[in-house]
Amino acid sequence: MSITVRDATAADAATLIGYLRDLQEWERALCPSRRPGQEVDRLCYEHLLQVGADLLLALDGDRPIGFVAGRLRVDEDELMTPAWRWHGYVSDLFVAPAQRGRGVGQLLLQAMADRLRSKGAARLRIGSLCVNQAALAAYRRFGFEPFEVVLDLDLAQR
Ligand SMILES: CC(C)(COP(=O)(O)OP(=O)(O)OC[C@H]1O[C@@H](n2cnc3c(N)ncnc32)[C@H](O)[C@@H]1OP(=O)(O)O)[C@@H](O)C(=O)NCCC(=O)NCCS
Repeated sequence: MSITVRDATAADAATLIGYLRDLQEWERALCPSRRPGQEVDRLCYEHLLQVGADLLLALDGDRPIGFVAGRLRVDEDELMTPAWRWHGYVSDLFVAPAQRGRGVGQLLLQAMADRLRSKGAARLRIGSLCVNQAALAAYRRFGFEPFEVVLDLDLAQR
């Protein structure tokens, strides 16, 4: 496997917007809470640029095969210690379907962990829908452990 990871540039915008669309559609297939990918892909991309996220692209030779986005972030919960509030936040991770299960996700997570550590992060946070078992397994394989759980109740059921 000759996979490399590099910073995305403005020339990669169309690739990243396509990945953000596909990522949204992936989650929408798992959970109806998500809007269609084509409605939010550009919005997501512009948001990532606006918040100054690091955008890393995985390539097989010259061909893009996935990406990860992350940044330093501070939790708004003032009941937490400052050390917990400041963290590296991995906001998006996507690997092209034909490339999954080959370790590309682990490579991207490692590259982002190194990047955010070099910027001062002492810990990383990442989130997933509970039904996204492949993502949760990949995160746990990397070393993430469950930290907080958000529960949801459809009041039509009660
Ligand atoms: C989640 C995702 C990024 C993982 O990338 P990947 O390159 O396939 O993952 P890796 O090969 O690096 O990780 C391998 C580990 O992930 C887990 N894993 C990967 N695919 C899996 C699947 N379909 N089912 C269960 N576990 C899976 C395994 O634990 C595996 O470890 P192992 O090989 O030691 O068993 C990729 O599946 C993806 O892009 N999914 C769609 C988008 C998405 O869900 N992104 C996350 C949003 S929160």
